[in-house]
Amino acid sequence: MHVVSITSLKGGVGKTTVTLGLASAALHAGLRVLVVDLDPHADATTALAVRRGRGIDAGHLLRNARRYRLADAVAASAWSREERNRVPGTTGRLDVVPGSAYSGIFDRPDLGRRDLNRLHRLLTRDEETAAAYDIALIDCPPSLNGLTRIAWTASSGVLLVAEPALFSVAGTERTLRAMDLFRREYAPGLRTAGVVANRVRQDVPEQAFRLREMERMFASLLLRPALIDRPVLQQVQGAAHAVHHWPGADAAHAARDFDAVLAGLGHLVEDEPEHALQPSA
Ligand SMILES: Nc1ncnc2c1ncn2[C@@H]1O[C@H](COP(=O)(O)OP(=O)(O)O)[C@@H](O)[C@H]1O
Ligand SMILES: [Mg+2]
Repeated sequence: MHVVSITSLKGGVGKTTVTLGLASAALHAGLRVLVVDLDPHADATTALAVRRGRGIDAGHLLRNARRYRLADAVAASAWSREERNRVPGTTGRLDVVPGSAYSGIFDRPDLGRRDLNRLHRLLTRDEETAAAYDIALIDCPPSLNGLTRIAWTASSGVLLVAEPALFSVAGTERTLRAMDLFRREYAPGLRTAGVVANRVRQDVPEQAFRLREMERMFASLLLRPALIDRPVLQQVQGAAHAVHHWPGADAAHAARDFDAVLAGLGHLVEDEPEHALQPSA
């Protein structure tokens, strides 16, 4: 199973939107997808129309990582059933480790190795459940605290989301530097990040300028295409549907863009992580 964290230092830039769009693209491509909602706001869980599993959320799963197995927290998304109705016999499936405010107990700056390793252990120890998915997408909270670092430790690749705006581009730079330090200290196998630009408005000159700046700064890390600001995405999320299931040309364009970004992630997900942290004594 390939594990990709969707990260940014800032809130509101589109981590959850990109997580949902990639999940929709992967489901549509017939992949077996697990979304791990590590954000205490649990927006991804809401938008994925998660049906009740066993009632164990990401926070309690992490807290009781020894007692629970990954399978205990996995719940089905209604997107899965819709995909099966549309494409009988599809191999695609979408499950979720639901988020909840409780995961906030881990969003501290001072986690030790044992805590950082919790998700990685859960994803690798329950081999049967891990083998049931092709890709896991981790929706991170808007900080570089404990939860994001727990996600990085479990990931083969990190996808950074940025708006073409000064503070967001600067935040992405800082995140890349933080990843470098983290890689050196804790996770030597953490893959080089890709950066995706989101909420792009070509009619805004400042954004066009920042997008060119991003091309210069992030060079080959910048994934194509940049994701356009499309109001239909907010409608799709409000209705808790997959963008690939939504009617109309706008949704179809958005869906194709997410297909392309998913394809561009190929280089991030080639290898399994090799960087299991050693538990502290
Ligand atoms: N490309 C986009 N087009 C239109 N609206 C978007 C786009 N990306 C994000 N949004 C909207 O912006 C808001 C913040 O996005 P969200 O994905 O929740 O960000 P984050 O998870 O980083 O906090 C949401 O209301 C979302 O629907
Ligand atoms: Mg979010």
